[in-house]
Amino acid sequence: MELPYAEPYKIKMIEHIKRSTKNQRLKWIKKAHYNLFNLASENVFIDLLTDSGTGAMSDRQWAEMMVGDESYAGSSSFKKLKKTVRKITGFKYFLPTHQGRAAENVLFSAMVKEGDVVPGNSHFDTTKGHIEFRKASAIDCTIDEAFDTSNMHPFKGNIDINKLEVVFKKYPKERIPFVILTITCNSAGGQPVSIKNISEVSKLCKQYDIPLYFDAARFSENAYFIKKREVGYENKTIKEIVKEVFSYGDGMTMSAKKDGLVNMGGFIALNNKKVYKEATVFNIMFEGFITYGGMNGRDMGALAVGLEESTEFNYLESRVEQIAYLGEKLVEYGVPVQQPFGGHAIFLDANKFVPTIPREEFRAQALALELYVVGGIRGVEIGTILADRDPITRENRYPELELVRLAVPRRTYTNNHMDYVAATLKMIYNTREEAKSGYKIINEAPIMRHFTIEFDKI
Ligand code: F0G
Repeated sequence: MELPYAEPYKIKMIEHIKRSTKNQRLKWIKKAHYNLFNLASENVFIDLLTDSGTGAMSDRQWAEMMVGDESYAGSSSFKKLKKTVRKITGFKYFLPTHQGRAAENVLFSAMVKEGDVVPGNSHFDTTKGHIEFRKASAIDCTIDEAFDTSNMHPFKGNIDINKLEVVFKKYPKERIPFVILTITCNSAGGQPVSIKNISEVSKLCKQYDIPLYFDAARFSENAYFIKKREVGYENKTIKEIVKEVFSYGDGMTMSAKKDGLVNMGGFIALNNKKVYKEATVFNIMFEGFITYGGMNGRDMGALAVGLEESTEFNYLESRVEQIAYLGEKLVEYGVPVQQPFGGHAIFLDANKFVPTIPREEFRAQALALELYVVGGIRGVEIGTILADRDPITRENRYPELELVRLAVPRRTYTNNHMDYVAATLKMIYNTREEAKSGYKIINEAPIMRHFTIEFDKI
């Protein structure tokens, strides 16, 4: 018999969270115009809005906060972080930034120009935003299996090599500044990319002389999936796998708010000296001097320790298996979820959950709201609201999938909390046929509407 996993840490400090009544929540959500972003966090019992910057730091990270060097230039905390990034990723040059999208802004300022195309695997919103802002286009080359929520492909974040080659053949290499590979692929549901796929993408990139960069926000979770699912990697350490993954690329952008195990931070790491030099200018302009780039010294120290901790197998096992624990409970209750489970979140399939609510009444949003009203749990809609309107026709764009994402913060909630979430969903699922109507929009911004949109109940 194999022993089960258990968290490789114990709790030293707790934060109080408040249970509330259904009547209170009905009042609060009405006041928030049925937008979960408008809720006061103290009125949320279990917050699964995002896994970004919401995790718990360790005592060793907090110890680093006390010895942080806040010097403007040449800070020892910067040196500590630079050394760790070099050791873990293998990349030669390093620039700190205040978060992931800032790293994108700095790197893309140096590399992306009007008319360019940037192929990748379902680019994250901010990545796509920073590409399109420069009048360039993001081309999605993800494998088709990723778009079927019940297909059990083990690496649904993979790039389709044929789709990628079509892009390489269609455009001259001067118009393809790089390929961006997101590990794990957030937009495809926290799905991993295999090392085989990474090496094939790298080979093709070399053949066409196009650089390969990683959007590495969840690179440790990706390495965990490689160790668990890919033949030949079961006996390698996470740090060995991470090193090999990055050896196939030319650089990376990082939102340290995920696998950096800190609440704020990011960086760029890369091998090309010329690109580094160019990016340095933008870093100083947008972020700050090159030895802090928008981060406090103490935060850089905490990030150095966080990168070491997030690349430990025992931590990753408890992290990723907690997501699977929630996923398995939901499957047991018959609740339709995306499979295989991702590394940082469970996605509810609202098309299968509440087909009784018309799409025009935003069924995924309705489900996310119901989860809050019934259990005080905050998830986020990944469906029609997020997809925005068509920029030309101004009609709602109905994506293939209507999802509710339940992103689990790192080292923050226990499996009792996961049981509570699953039980709440079971309750909602058992009475799902009573749900007949959803919401109508009363106010919305012309772009990125989901943050500030307001609804009325139908
Ligand atoms: N890349 C990926 C894959 C991400 O998931 C995110 C953020 C970013 C880049 C941008 O990083 O927030 O530090 O500026 N994802 C968060 C989420 C917001 O909720 O999934 P950032």
